[in-house]
Amino acid sequence: MRGLLLFATLGLAAAEDGLNAWLRYARLPPDIAKQATVPLNIVALNTTETSPVYVAGQELQKGIKGILDRSLNITHEASEGSSVVVGTIAAFNNSGISIGTPELEQDGFWLSIKGDTVEIVGQNERGALYGAFEYLSMLAQANFTEVAYATNPSAAIRWINQWDNMDGTIERGYAGPSIFFKGNAPVSNVTRVAEYARLLASIRVNGIVINNVNANAQILSDANMAGIARIADAMRPWGVKVGISLNFASPQTFGGLNTFDPLDKSVIAWWTKITDKLYQHVPDLAGFLVKANSEGQPGPLTYGRTLSDGANLFAKAAKPHGGIVMFRAFVYDNQHLNERNWKDDRANAAVDFFRGLDEKFDDNVVVQVKYGPIDFQVREPPSPLFAHLKQTASAIELQVTQEYLGQQCHLVYLPPLWKTILDFDLRVDGEKSVIGTDILSGKRFNKKGLTGYAAVVNVGQNATWLGSHLAMSNLYGYGRLAWDPTVNEVEILEDWTRLTFGLDDTVRETITRMSMESWPAYENYTGNLGIQTLTDITGPHYGPNPQSMDNNAWGQWTRADAFSIGMDRTVKNGTGFAGQYPTEVAAVFEEIETTPDDLLLWFHHVPYTHVLKNGKTVIQHFYDAHYAGAETAATFPTQWAKLEGLIDKQRFDETAFRLTYQAGHAIVWRDSINQFYNSLSGIADAHDRVNNHPWRVEAESMTLRGYRVTSVNPFEVASGLRIVQTVGNSSSASVSAKLNFTAGTYDVAVAYYDLYEGKASYELFLNDKSIGSWVGDNEYKLGYTVTRGIDGHSATRITFKGVDVKEGDVVRVDAKANGRETAPLDYIAVLPPGVVD
Ligand SMILES: *[C@@H]1O[C@H](CO)[C@@H](O)[C@H](O)[C@H]1NC(C)=O
Ligand SMILES: *[C@@H]1O[C@H](CO)[C@@H](O)[C@H](O)[C@H]1NC(C)=O
Ligand SMILES: *[C@@H]1O[C@H](CO)[C@@H](O)[C@H](O)[C@H]1NC(C)=O
Ligand SMILES: *[C@@H]1O[C@H](CO)[C@@H](O)[C@H](O)[C@H]1NC(C)=O
Ligand SMILES: *[C@@H]1O[C@H](CO)[C@@H](O)[C@H](O)[C@H]1NC(C)=O
Ligand SMILES: *[C@@H]1O[C@H](CO)[C@@H](O)[C@H](O)[C@H]1NC(C)=O
Ligand SMILES: *[C@@H]1O[C@H](CO)[C@@H](O)[C@H](O)[C@H]1NC(C)=O
Ligand SMILES: *[C@@H]1O[C@H](CO)[C@@H](O)[C@H](O)[C@H]1NC(C)=O
Ligand SMILES: *[C@@H]1O[C@H](CO)[C@@H](O)[C@H](O)[C@H]1NC(C)=O
Ligand SMILES: *[C@@H]1O[C@H](CO)[C@@H](O)[C@H](O)[C@H]1NC(C)=O
Repeated sequence: MRGLLLFATLGLAAAEDGLNAWLRYARLPPDIAKQATVPLNIVALNTTETSPVYVAGQELQKGIKGILDRSLNITHEASEGSSVVVGTIAAFNNSGISIGTPELEQDGFWLSIKGDTVEIVGQNERGALYGAFEYLSMLAQANFTEVAYATNPSAAIRWINQWDNMDGTIERGYAGPSIFFKGNAPVSNVTRVAEYARLLASIRVNGIVINNVNANAQILSDANMAGIARIADAMRPWGVKVGISLNFASPQTFGGLNTFDPLDKSVIAWWTKITDKLYQHVPDLAGFLVKANSEGQPGPLTYGRTLSDGANLFAKAAKPHGGIVMFRAFVYDNQHLNERNWKDDRANAAVDFFRGLDEKFDDNVVVQVKYGPIDFQVREPPSPLFAHLKQTASAIELQVTQEYLGQQCHLVYLPPLWKTILDFDLRVDGEKSVIGTDILSGKRFNKKGLTGYAAVVNVGQNATWLGSHLAMSNLYGYGRLAWDPTVNEVEILEDWTRLTFGLDDTVRETITRMSMESWPAYENYTGNLGIQTLTDITGPHYGPNPQSMDNNAWGQWTRADAFSIGMDRTVKNGTGFAGQYPTEVAAVFEEIETTPDDLLLWFHHVPYTHVLKNGKTVIQHFYDAHYAGAETAATFPTQWAKLEGLIDKQRFDETAFRLTYQAGHAIVWRDSINQFYNSLSGIADAHDRVNNHPWRVEAESMTLRGYRVTSVNPFEVASGLRIVQTVGNSSSASVSAKLNFTAGTYDVAVAYYDLYEGKASYELFLNDKSIGSWVGDNEYKLGYTVTRGIDGHSATRITFKGVDVKEGDVVRVDAKANGRETAPLDYIAVLPPGVVD
């Protein structure tokens, strides 16, 4: 009993799994709660249970009960006096409550809080629900100020894309199987679907495409259409409309026609019929998403038709139903890119393919453009295509799922990255053309009502939605920025932290600081100066593999050789990409002198010895940034440890595990990249850190029993270029060495490789005394895409803190291989306080 009371006073729940994300409605401490003026009842001006207004009433009841411990009744009849009234502007009007709301735009709302009278007026039902969430967000943050304001969305399209396959897997998803599909059909249990819609409504997302852009034509079967209807029914009360991805070849592969030519009459008739049928199942279907002629997908180019012919095929079918077509600009030809041709450049593809089509798209087509010209890299310049679509509506494609950005195993808070794009002024025709406020808002080119945002999110069945509690700030931030791209990224974080972890100042300051450092740190230890995330481009896009970035047909090149690095994208001597921007911007990127350092290697090919604006050479900056980034990541677990007891144990422990893992993997990144470019360029680190690890004992130099020395691929992911693996798959083995460090207290780290299809076990000893044991079971705890290799993805480490070591002590690791995991070991580091190595 005492324990429970204590928890109640602190406002802490005993355990939280993350399912409620930022909608926990955690009880405020009584001394704070008593300052709130609470209305006596709730009036929801709609009696239909599936109405977002009705749902808003229930959400208000649940929230006020949770936050303030007050049980309010809901009625549906307007009444004056002490109440919170929620409804559409029309319903308010009909009920005779006089309201002085200004003109609202679609999905907008008016919120007025005055004493114990609260009015939440939506332009439509969705807007009313958004207003209810806004009021609850204020209460949950103990913000009891009186307000009266209207807010409207910056853009009409605020969508989510899920890359869910019908078999229940998710492409680039890191949090378990799909909540939408199972066994090649839409799920029948829609509980999680509705819970997701609730989260999305609270951040004012109004649409979702539920299946992978690499689409399966079987989604168009009668049974599957009925399944989509089930999902749409579950999301509709939350104001979230459902859309689907289409496979361009469906008329042939699914419909049995002998063609999918977009201008063929039978194809047109087929799509019209299918679309009509879909709208019978889902009358408010948001529309379609199409990936055509990209990465092997079929499309109109197959028949020599234009991309606009392809998009308009669907647009015409959807038009009578009010549907729209999101047509992806991610079109490129990965079969014919040749790195030996200096002028070949995948970054050119989008503008090259869409040039000349601007006037050709139907008015319900929206071209969906990834934020950068390549593919969700750690830093890219904005896609120049935004400047070329003047007649055609455009939407930006962002990624909440961290495909190239640590796959939710690394904390990387993304709004600061997105802001580099949203705040960018493209100066189209010499006029202010800021991507967020001018172009995506539809204002600059008069496309209001049909522009906006799509984010690839890829939540899964994991209770945390994304696999990581802290990664959820990216989803929250996405919604906030799509509504208003000018909101400050720190303000977003602070709101999210209070809602997710409570009102404690230390908690808010710590999470805000760590999150704000996280993207710069990740850029530092992965890829700098615009070179892109130096990951495994042909593999899972997770760990380091800089050499994979060249000599591939995917076109994500660095052109690194022994002397120089970077893509020459100038007009005068390179691929010409810089010239795809409007004149003023093109001029900046054309010259090395005016290109900002952080995009230098995106636009220019320079010697490693080129001196940056910050006074360092390119290669020395690489080294320094990698050391700085890994040091920043090393502070994350330490910063987090200060929150013990200030937040619930479950989320504290789960997050501590991931941040500790990240700190170790950041060192893997640092050493791999530095070792690779050091070896390629032959230029030494001015501070002599690269390949110089005085606190490490390499496994290959230890006394081995049952272990053999091997190399790895890529070579740079092994410290000292060698590792050890057990001789047999199930054998026991050990490594040992006499230590030669002065007596003191050290942190002892063991670097090893954690593969899947195997759980090797390990125990660390000092002079036969056990320091700790562990098993290679990260594949059950982390959601990144696994490979079979001993590589930059599986490389990891474990650290035992505060171990007393003296000269002559013997360190030993006993290991037992299991399955495919041959207990691979790289090194043991004995680290004095403050040393990150
Ligand atoms: C109540 O909600 C239903 C479902 O959203 C809607 O069709 C109806 O028009 C609403 N009624 C009023 C009076 O707003
Ligand atoms: C709320 O409803 C319950 C059950 O209908 C009723 O007993 C109670 O008096 C109501 N409370 C208020 C404040 O109207
Ligand atoms: C409110 O009602 C009045 C008449 O009762 C009508 O003239 C007016 O158009 C209505 N306004 C809205 C926003 O529905
Ligand atoms: C309280 O909420 C209002 C409305 O969202 C906001 O304008 C204000 O800044 C908030 N106050 C604080 C202290 O956060
Ligand atoms: C439906 O899914 C929810 C959430 O995963 C689960 O709690 C519930 O038991 C499921 N219902 C049925 C009937 O399986
Ligand atoms: C110009 O392009 C050639 C390849 O055609 C390249 O070798 C050379 O380094 C480039 N020159 C400059 C100054 O970037
Ligand atoms: C990133 O690296 C730069 C260059 O070494 C350094 O100045 C900066 O502090 C680092 N930032 C973080 C967050 O690691
Ligand atoms: C131990 O370290 C000392 C000082 O660092 C060095 O002089 C000595 O050679 C080392 N002994 C061995 C066996 O490596
Ligand atoms: C969530 O996923 C992580 C690994 O990604 C795993 O450790 C955890 O057990 C999962 N939790 C649930 C409830 O599925
Ligand atoms: C033993 O390990 C090797 C890799 O070292 C792997 O190819 C083989 O499949 C493993 N055997 C078993 C039974 O897991």
